[in-house]
Amino acid sequence: MRLAGTADKKPMNARKILLAAALLLAGVIAGGCADRTRVAAAPAPAQRTSFDAALVARGARLAAIGNCAACHTQPGGKAFAGGLPLSTPFGTIYSTNITPDPDTGIGRWTGEEFLRAMHEGIDRGGRHLYPVFPYDHFTLVTDDDVAAIYAFIMTRDPVKADVPANRLTFPARFRPAIAAWKALYFARGVYRPDPSRSAEWNRGAYLAEGLGHCGACHTPHNALGAEEKQRDLGGGDVESWHASSLTVTSPAPVPWTADQLFDYLRGGREVKHGIAAGPMSPVVHDLAGVAENDVRAIAVYIASRMRPEGPDAQKPGNALFASARPEEAGSSSGTRRGTASLDEGEGIFIGACATCHSAGLAATDRQPVALGLTTSINAPDPRNAVHITLEGLWPDPGERGALMPGFAGELSDGQVAALVDYLRARFTDKPAWTDVPERVREIRQGMRDER
Ligand code: HEC
Ligand code: HEC
Ligand code: HEC
Repeated sequence: MRLAGTADKKPMNARKILLAAALLLAGVIAGGCADRTRVAAAPAPAQRTSFDAALVARGARLAAIGNCAACHTQPGGKAFAGGLPLSTPFGTIYSTNITPDPDTGIGRWTGEEFLRAMHEGIDRGGRHLYPVFPYDHFTLVTDDDVAAIYAFIMTRDPVKADVPANRLTFPARFRPAIAAWKALYFARGVYRPDPSRSAEWNRGAYLAEGLGHCGACHTPHNALGAEEKQRDLGGGDVESWHASSLTVTSPAPVPWTADQLFDYLRGGREVKHGIAAGPMSPVVHDLAGVAENDVRAIAVYIASRMRPEGPDAQKPGNALFASARPEEAGSSSGTRRGTASLDEGEGIFIGACATCHSAGLAATDRQPVALGLTTSINAPDPRNAVHITLEGLWPDPGERGALMPGFAGELSDGQVAALVDYLRARFTDKPAWTDVPERVREIRQGMRDER
């Protein structure tokens, strides 16, 4: 029974009925044959020394594109030993230990078992895996590339480490429910090149849609946690951040070019767009070590999704950039100023922010990008601006230069809301956000829970 594809068009209640039916069915099947898929008397996994060094090196670069370490390592923990909590609408799921430790990691897994996990989301014991592990994207990765990743993972240091039990609500807690979810939303796939496009574009599409799993964050998810394919890369939610649209609906005031996307993906910042923060920072951190051609290919593919390329597409953006010095950007919205709250926001901005985000300074390599150019305050969602204002921006451990201090300690919720409203009114010509106080409260609460 494959319902994926058609299910998306059905109204929500029909989908729920389908889910209930599929759940029942899955429960029956799972009760009877959960273990049937266990690979009988699996051959011993390959020995560490049996992998070719070039294959391991290729696997390392591929694993970086897949962000395996980012999800399978907890802060301060050993690489790939798992235990990182991932929050979902259904509760918390912990990433597993994928070091080659035979007891607590995947040391006993054969290459075939590993391939099945990557392509079908099934573990060595035949159990379904939660799609937080983005196998709905990894299913597109070729067998050869998976074999290289396997060689890389199996040659890491084994770490003996158990991970905490997941904390999920019913029915998500019930693993056979994943079978129902898969029946609705998962299709085993292979990447089919588009012959009308260049080899570079196809390489980029293969990496972005597959291993890079950009859509896991940048595509909106439905109530059952599945990506809404008809709004592919149209903007999504992750860890209470907003991952902006990478399509023609991109809110970036300056249209992105492939070169600019390359700089952003490779270096974490672009002078006409701003900085990669929050959940995007591990992504760019990993891409810094990936073959340059591969990052360029991803940039070419994403640029094509955003708008048709061409000299004309750049004109409005360049004109805006030329004028977008902080004191000028968004001046068209000056008429909206004058309320008490915006005055309060302006006062805070002058006192706390203007030293760095000061008027009269065009974006350079050293000056912050003019706020009016950033997606943070042009997005349909205020959460990234709130996060950055409260938490600040910090470099990766070991790297230099604290970028911006957080203001959680200095500013009350009301002050942050007034300030963020002011940034929106002063530096953009977009409509005011309506949900800023709630978002400030939620994000502040999230910061408390983390402590
Ligand atoms: C977005 C976070 C995320 C990313 C990125 C990610 N994983 Fe995972 N992975 C998980 C989670 C969470 C689980 C556990 C799922 C479950 O318990 O059902 C998991 C499970 C697995 C498993 C099954 C292990 C077991 O013990 O059952 C393997 C193998 C695996 N991941 C390999 C990888 C590889 C290789 C990559 C990179 C190409 C990768 N993962 C990237 C989150 C992630
Ligand atoms: C773990 C979640 C996650 C993944 C995976 C991810 N992103 Fe992002 N991305 C984000 C978030 C969150 C932001 C917003 C961060 C900010 O504004 O600082 C973002 C921002 C961006 C931006 C800036 C958009 C703009 O207009 O400002 C680009 C471009 C981007 N991502 C490209 C990609 C590409 C390409 C991939 C896949 C190779 C990818 N992202 C994978 C979470 C993710
Ligand atoms: C010590 C200097 C400093 C101060 C003070 C400061 N910032 Fe920043 N801010 C930065 C830097 C540096 C960046 C990174 C931007 C870049 O590299 O282009 C940044 C980025 C941002 C961004 C994200 C822009 C993007 O690229 O998406 C926002 C939003 C922001 N600041 C808001 C504020 C607000 C609001 C205040 C006052 C409460 C403030 N900042 C105070 C230095 C500062």
